[in-house]
Amino acid sequence: MSAELVLPVGYTGRAATLDDVDAIHRLMAAGEQALNGRVEVAPDGVRADLLRPGLVLAADTRLVQDVAGNVAAWAWQNQGRRSQIDVHPAFRGQGIGGALLDWAEARAAERGSQQAAQTVDDKDLAATALLRSRGYEVLATNWLLEMPVATEPLLPELPADIHVRPFQPGDEKAAYRLIQDAFDEWQPRRQPYDEWARLMIERESFVAEVSPVAFVGDELVGAALCLDVPGSDEGYVEQLAVRRDQRNKGLARALLAVASTEFYRRGSRNLTLWTHSGTGALAMYERLGMTVRRSTTVYRKPLSAS
Ligand SMILES: CC(C)(COP(=O)(O)OP(=O)(O)OC[C@H]1O[C@@H](n2cnc3c(N)ncnc32)[C@H](O)[C@@H]1OP(=O)(O)O)[C@@H](O)C(=O)NCCC(=O)NCCS
Repeated sequence: MSAELVLPVGYTGRAATLDDVDAIHRLMAAGEQALNGRVEVAPDGVRADLLRPGLVLAADTRLVQDVAGNVAAWAWQNQGRRSQIDVHPAFRGQGIGGALLDWAEARAAERGSQQAAQTVDDKDLAATALLRSRGYEVLATNWLLEMPVATEPLLPELPADIHVRPFQPGDEKAAYRLIQDAFDEWQPRRQPYDEWARLMIERESFVAEVSPVAFVGDELVGAALCLDVPGSDEGYVEQLAVRRDQRNKGLARALLAVASTEFYRRGSRNLTLWTHSGTGALAMYERLGMTVRRSTTVYRKPLSAS
C-alpha cells in the first residue's frame, strides 16, 4: 500500500520522473529567489537526488500541479530518513505543504522509520511554524558560508612531505574512503560508494581541476571536492576532509586556498560551502575568514508521537 496524498481542491499529485528535473529546479529556484534574493540550487543536484540508489521515484516522490498543469509543489522522502518539501511561492498558504508533510510522514512510517525529519530555511517562517505546530523539534543547523576572493589567493606553505595536486581519475576510491572516514566522526550513516559517487564525482558540475587532493607519499590524506555550478559565478566546495593524523598542519587551509585560486582564475570572486552543526567545523571556517550567508534548520519528530 502506498502513502496517501490528500490535496486541497484544484490540485493533483503524481510521482515525479527524471523528466521533471527542470520543473523541480525552477520551483526550488523560485523559493530561494523569494526568500534569499538569489538562486543556489543546481539542476544537477536535483537530478542526483532523484538518482540516489535506493530511492523509488514512484513511491518516494510527489509532484503537485494545478488544473493548468503548473507545478505548485513537490516532495521527496529519502528512504525513511529525511524528507524535503518545496511549495512554489505563488501557491503558498493553501494547505499544500501540510498535505505533503502528512504524505512524507506516512511514507517514512511505511518505510519503517521511527522518525520524520525536514530541513527548512531559517527565513521560511511559515514552514518553520508548520513544523513546530506538528511537534517537530530542532535537531541541527546548516550554515552556508562565503568568502570573497578579491585577489588571487596566496598559497600557504605546507610541510615538505605533503604535496597537493588536482583530483585525477584513479583517486575515486581513496577520496571516498578518506571522506567517509572523516565524516563518520559525525554523520549518522556511512554512504555506500555508489551513492557517494552519484552525489559527488558523477555530477556534471564536479570539476576535477578545481578539486585539490593532498598526499603524503602515495596516500591520499586530504581533499576539497568542488562544483562549478552552471549559471553561478561562485566557487563551491561540496566536501572537505583531512585525515585525522594530518590535521592541524594547515592542510584544510591550503586545500581551500588552492581551490580558491583555481576558481579565481575561472572568474569566480566568491567561495562558498555548506557546513553542519554536527561537524564542529564552523569555527575553523570563521577562522579562515568565511562568514555565514544563510542558515537552515533540521527538524525532527518521533513518528510514534504523531
Ligand atoms: C575540518 C577539517 C577539514 C580541518 O582540517 P585541518 O587540516 O586540521 O585544518 P587546518 O590545519 O588547515 O586549520 C585551519 C585553521 O583552522 C583552525 N581549526 C582547525 N580545526 C578547527 C576546529 N575544529 N575548530 C576551530 N578551529 C579549527 C586551525 O587552528 C587553523 O587556524 P590557524 O591557521 O589560524 O592556526 C578536519 O578536521 C576534518 O577533516 N574534519 C572531519 C570532516 C569534516 O567535518 N569536514 C568539514 C565538513 S563541512
